[in-house]
Parts: sequence; structure tokens; C-alpha cells
Amino acid sequence: MPQDLEPAVNFGDKNLALISKIAPIIFNYRIPKKIEVELYDLKFPSPLTGASFKSETDILAIWLSMGLGSITFKTITKGIRLGNEPPRLQEINSNGKPGILNSVGLPGPGIDIFTKRIQNSTLWDYGRPLGISIGGDSGEEYVSNTKNIIHALKDKDNYFLELNISCPNTINGHTLADDPDQLDTVLKELRNMTPRVISVKVSPDSDYPLLSNIGEIVGSFSRTFINAGNTQYKTVNEAGVKKKNFSMPGGGVSGPSIFPRMLEMVHLFSSIGLPIMATGGISTIEHVKAVKEQGAILYGMATALVLDPFCVPKINSML
Ligand SMILES: Cc1cc2nc3c(=O)[nH]c(=O)nc-3n(C[C@H](O)[C@H](O)[C@H](O)COP(=O)(O)O)c2cc1C
Repeated sequence: MPQDLEPAVNFGDKNLALISKIAPIIFNYRIPKKIEVELYDLKFPSPLTGASFKSETDILAIWLSMGLGSITFKTITKGIRLGNEPPRLQEINSNGKPGILNSVGLPGPGIDIFTKRIQNSTLWDYGRPLGISIGGDSGEEYVSNTKNIIHALKDKDNYFLELNISCPNTINGHTLADDPDQLDTVLKELRNMTPRVISVKVSPDSDYPLLSNIGEIVGSFSRTFINAGNTQYKTVNEAGVKKKNFSMPGGGVSGPSIFPRMLEMVHLFSSIGLPIMATGGISTIEHVKAVKEQGAILYGMATALVLDPFCVPKINSML
């Protein structure tokens, strides 16, 4: 049987949720007052944010209790998606650093079920901005998904929208990124539809001219920011994973090994003058200092939350 990291992660999540119910104090940390970041009308009590990769309320609640200033739900698409066949998640060692190779492929309940679930989510009670990550197979789908979300959340105001235009694990995950004119059209429609803050999440696999084109477009709209960025594509061979242990030819690498490329992207977007959330490989105060120096104001984390969530209160206390 091929090995698969996913059941181990799910098992870990269940244990974590159980421990947090029995002894919530273990995960309860105060965020120092002085580290709040304001972006437009959103107030992030800590600049550390949970990147889009999970939607389980109990787990997201634990990470918020540990000191994240915000959390973004896993990307939602129009219909129910099962994602790619397992095995689709592997722990890797990339350039001597721990990481994850995933080709999960955006499994999810579909927009209708998702919107019903988040309307009454207890995560709103934290009073921290929640990110709603939107995927789509076409520009029209991004627009119609967003319309559904705005309608469902008409009584809420502490959230931002994130367009995931950088998923390496679905056929159309890059559609808007590869066609900046279409991205421009979608952003125009969304801006006419809502004053909500909109983030656009880009890929470290896109080249400089494309990234800078996207950056110029995003910057031409009010109340936007860039999230740089998503996982970095590698084949199983490049990632050092045996073919039998992965159902797809490759997937997205996350964790510290993608940090240098992410830093280059932050540098680029900083020169365009955009507000930036830096996501990719962040797990230490040194990482945060380096991206802050390049101009990022928010710091997204995914892999570090799985490998060592206690880095959140640790970094908060050193900011
Ligand atoms: C298992 C897994 C699932 C992910 N799913 C999503 C997703 O649904 N939407 C998204 O925008 N990014 C997704 N990501 C990417 C993360 O949000 C993040 O951009 C990336 O992992 C780099 O950050 P990290 O090095 O801190 O993990 C996923 C990452 C992992 C590891």
C-alpha cells in the first residue's frame, strides 16, 4: 500500500480538537496590544494570519486562540469537489528543510453548503477578519461565487474576499492568472458589486512580467491587496517522493524551502506599491523580519501551523 500523510494529519486534527476541549488553556494566548495592523477598515490584532487550507471550525478556532490575527477558509468552488485521488499529501525534505507536497485539488462542499456553514460560524465571535477564499473554473464562476458569498454574509462586515488564482492542483486553477485581462474584468465586476477588501493570491510559479502585470491590475482597484503567494509546483521526482506514494505527477510544495522565492515576490510587489500579505514558508521571527523589511504588512502561514502551531505565540511575543 502506498504511504499517505493525509490520514495522519486528520488523526492529529481530531486529537488536537479533543485536547482543546479538555484543556483549552493549553492553546490560549493573549496577543500583545502593540502588534495590531490596520488595512483599510480591517483590524488584524496580530499580523500573523492563517492561510487558506482548512475549513474545520474547531481547528481554525485553536489557531485563532493561539494568536493568529485572522484566518482564511479553504478555497471554495461552485460545486462539490472531491479533489484528487489519495495519496495526495506527503511530508518532504526540500533543500534540507521540512515541508509538504500536496495535490489535494480543492476538495470542498460547494458554495451553497459553505455559505450556510459560515453564516453562523462561531469564528466570527473572535472579532478578527475572516478571509473567504474563492476559486472558479472561469471568470464568470469567480463572479457568481462572490455574489453568493456577499449575499449570504450581508449581516457581516469583518471579512475580506480572496481570489485564489494560483492553485497548482486543479486544471483551471491558474485561469485568471494566465489571462490578466480577464482578471481585470472580474475585479471590475466585483468592485462594482461590493466595497469589501479584495486580495488576489498569486503563484510563485508565475514569471516576473506576469506577476508585475497582475500587480499593476490589482493596484488599479481600490481596497485591494496581494497575497504572495501559493505553493510552488514540483514534480514527484523533484520533490523526492516515490511515484507510488503520490497519485499525481506532482503538486505544490509548501514550507520553509519556498521562502526565498516568496521573498523575491514580496520585493517585486513592494516596488509596485501594493499592500502585501506574505505567505510561503514563514515559521520564525527571522522570516517575519525579512518579509517586513521588504514591505509586507501581513504574514500568512499554513505548513507551520501543522508542523508547530506554538510558533504563533512565540513570534507574536517577539514582534
Ligand atoms: C494541504 C494544503 C492545502 C492547501 N489548500 C489551499 C487552498 O485551498 N487555497 C489556497 O489559496 N491555498 C491553499 N494552500 C496553500 C497555502 O494557503 C499557502 O499559500 C502555502 O501552503 C504556502 O504557505 P506555507 O509555506 O506557510 O504552507 C494549501 C496548502 C496545503 C499544504
